[in-house]
Amino acid sequence: MNYLLGVVGFFLSSHCSCLYIDLTYSLSNSNSYFPTETRFNFTETTALWTNDSYFYSSNTFKTSEHMGTHLDAPYHFSNVSWKTDQIPIERLMSIASLIIDVSIQCKQNKSYEVTIDDIKKYEPINLKKYFVILFYTGWTRYWSNQTAYAGPSYKDNSSNGLEFPGVKDETADYLVNKYNQTLVGVGIDTLSNRCTRIPDDEYWTLLTVVTLASTNSSANNPE
Ligand SMILES: *[C@@H]1O[C@H](CO)[C@@H](O)[C@H](O)[C@H]1NC(C)=O
Ligand SMILES: *[C@@H]1O[C@H](CO)[C@@H](O)[C@H](O)[C@H]1NC(C)=O
Ligand SMILES: *[C@@H]1O[C@H](CO)[C@@H](O)[C@H](O)[C@H]1NC(C)=O
Ligand SMILES: *[C@@H]1O[C@H](CO)[C@@H](O)[C@H](O)[C@H]1NC(C)=O
Ligand SMILES: *[C@@H]1O[C@H](CO)[C@@H](O)[C@H](O)[C@H]1NC(C)=O
Ligand SMILES: *[C@@H]1O[C@H](CO)[C@@H](O)[C@H](O)[C@H]1NC(C)=O
Ligand SMILES: *[C@@H]1O[C@H](CO)[C@@H](O)[C@H](O)[C@H]1NC(C)=O
Ligand SMILES: *[C@@H]1O[C@H](CO)[C@@H](O)[C@H](O)[C@H]1NC(C)=O
Repeated sequence: MNYLLGVVGFFLSSHCSCLYIDLTYSLSNSNSYFPTETRFNFTETTALWTNDSYFYSSNTFKTSEHMGTHLDAPYHFSNVSWKTDQIPIERLMSIASLIIDVSIQCKQNKSYEVTIDDIKKYEPINLKKYFVILFYTGWTRYWSNQTAYAGPSYKDNSSNGLEFPGVKDETADYLVNKYNQTLVGVGIDTLSNRCTRIPDDEYWTLLTVVTLASTNSSANNPE
């Protein structure tokens, strides 16, 4: 499998007085989606009393891998890299996260790309073991509105016209060069981190690990 739905359980840790953050959203047929991908479609299959003492419920859903809060495997952009089931479990459990807030910059520029200077404001990063960086762009608040979340001129089946914040390629390079022993993923509350360079090295095994629909613990009550 190349995906994992409903990733939870990253925690913020300075000296392990830990704050747990629920990154999930409830999935529904009206969720925002990446327009080249299959939308989420939930169907109730069975929900009935067979007789007075036996109730049975079962459902079916169809979805792209890249729906809602999810994890992208390194394989997503690198044919020689890990698929989800190949990622060592210690890189997925109880790892610290650093939230980098670029919401003010993104409010001023819908195509904002996170810069090296944005990272430097949070340095030194004193996280010794595995950690992830979560970019908070504020796009969370558009989650229930596809036009606002994906961009006003996107078309179905095409990635043309998408408009939302992302991360600069040079920022990705900077992170990998500096933190490649400890940084095991990045997340963002938009449809993609939008590092568009052709994958050619280990960098992608680090930088495409997580894409998140939200970094906000109030995710199920978007503004
Ligand atoms: C969702 O799936 C159901 C059952 O397969 C189908 O009838 C319906 O047309 C689908 N809806 C969309 C929007 O694809
Ligand atoms: C109710 O349905 C269940 C499942 O089919 C069956 O095992 C059970 O014997 C039924 N009970 C009665 C009272 O008919
Ligand atoms: C990955 O793709 C390259 C370029 O097409 C190919 O040479 C290589 O064999 C592929 N590796 C695997 C493990 O599929
Ligand atoms: C918004 O950010 C993008 C990416 O950094 C940049 O190319 C563009 O010039 C910026 N737009 C404005 C109006 O500052
Ligand atoms: C969704 O977002 C678009 C673009 O910002 C806006 O024009 C529209 O009014 C919004 N729809 C709702 C229901 O808020
Ligand atoms: C997108 O692709 C699907 C499957 O190929 C097709 O059924 C649908 O009509 C296409 N939608 C648009 C807007 O082109
Ligand atoms: C990983 O980090 C080491 C030490 O900081 C550095 O020498 C190496 O070039 C980095 N590797 C990659 C792929 O960036
Ligand atoms: C999360 O959302 C809540 C409610 O909308 C808001 O009060 C809070 O400031 C947000 N937290 C962050 C980290 O943005």
